[in-house]
Amino acid sequence: MKKNYTSDNQEPILKINNLKVYFDTDEGLIKAVDGVDLKMIKGTTLGLVGESGCGKSITCLSILRLIPSPPGIIADGEIIYKGKNLVELSEKDMEAIRGNDISMIFQEPMTSLNPVFTIGDQIKEVIMLHQKKTSIEAKELTIHILDKVGIPSPEIRINDYPHQMSGGMKQRVMIAMALTCNPEILIADEPATALDVTIQAQILDLMQSLQDESGMSILMVTHDLGVVASIASHVAIMYASKIVEYGSVEEIFENPRHPYTLGLFTSIPIIGEKKEDLYVIPGNVPNPLAFPKGCKFWPRCLFATKICKVLEPSLEEIKQDHKAACHFSKSIDKYIWKEKIKNA
Ligand SMILES: Nc1ncnc2c1ncn2[C@@H]1O[C@H](COP(=O)(O)OP(=O)(O)OP(=O)(O)O)[C@@H](O)[C@H]1O
Ligand code: SF4
Ligand SMILES: [Mg+2]
Repeated sequence: MKKNYTSDNQEPILKINNLKVYFDTDEGLIKAVDGVDLKMIKGTTLGLVGESGCGKSITCLSILRLIPSPPGIIADGEIIYKGKNLVELSEKDMEAIRGNDISMIFQEPMTSLNPVFTIGDQIKEVIMLHQKKTSIEAKELTIHILDKVGIPSPEIRINDYPHQMSGGMKQRVMIAMALTCNPEILIADEPATALDVTIQAQILDLMQSLQDESGMSILMVTHDLGVVASIASHVAIMYASKIVEYGSVEEIFENPRHPYTLGLFTSIPIIGEKKEDLYVIPGNVPNPLAFPKGCKFWPRCLFATKICKVLEPSLEEIKQDHKAACHFSKSIDKYIWKEKIKNA
């Protein structure tokens, strides 16, 4: 069951403050993440949504300090986990946190499995790296965890090589690997995007039931607002390196206030709604080497005015547990939005 909490009243298990991650490239400085604030509440799922290139994966990789460096650096900010600032920890301390406390399912899981080792050996290796287990104990644990993620006959399938498994099975193996050490936080970067719809639903159900069992917190990156609605308690909408709207799923779905969020919602076909009501956000996410001045969304925004082109809005509270970064978010709502797109 999805848990609903007011995040304002809960001590977060992970808190990101003003995170900035830059890439110093030959073409110029790419500000991939530029002042992101986020919090995760224990035992719940936070959805992180946004178009391609807006900084979702880089935010996730920063938490585990896996930003390729050079050219990347964490230029500023804090990532607080159990009172420690992960940005300042030594590599040795981070190694102890990766996999044990915080695990990640990477965006390209199919390429994360080594084709020349059996899946059993690959999971065993992760267990033996992080836990003091003998080879026999690690094998038993591998079979147990494969069983838990729904791999039939795990005692036989541990001898399979990745190419002998279907996409859905490989994804389950990746989840099993991420869960071997019973992490407090699971970062799932588009864990089901490459899979067909039925398998996607099974993977999400599986993650949800594992969360119910273990109380882990999940950061779920997705393009799919349907996934957010089914699994997350809170959602952060990211655009061009910043969070532009944040709140409980109920509040954001019922009362979106940022024109980008409204555009994302109106671009999903809903059964029973007229095709004319669909809206496609014009243009593309801006090139990070040439972000527009002011609000980065203004070239695509139906509400943009002079001030938007010069002054970047900050993330302001609309009400408890709901924030948006738009100069006009207190007056824009879904009714005004509907009128606007009708006349656009
Ligand atoms: N190694 C790198 N060197 C230079 N720029 C990078 C590097 N990795 C990422 N970037 C840039 O950082 C920005 C954010 O990338 P990120 O991968 O976080 O996007 P994303 O939101 O995860 O997109 P997608 O939905 O396609 O996965 C992009 O502009 C990307 O080009
Ligand atoms: S600040 Fe202006 S351009 Fe940006 S989202 Fe709000 S209305 Fe649109
Ligand atoms: Mg990504």
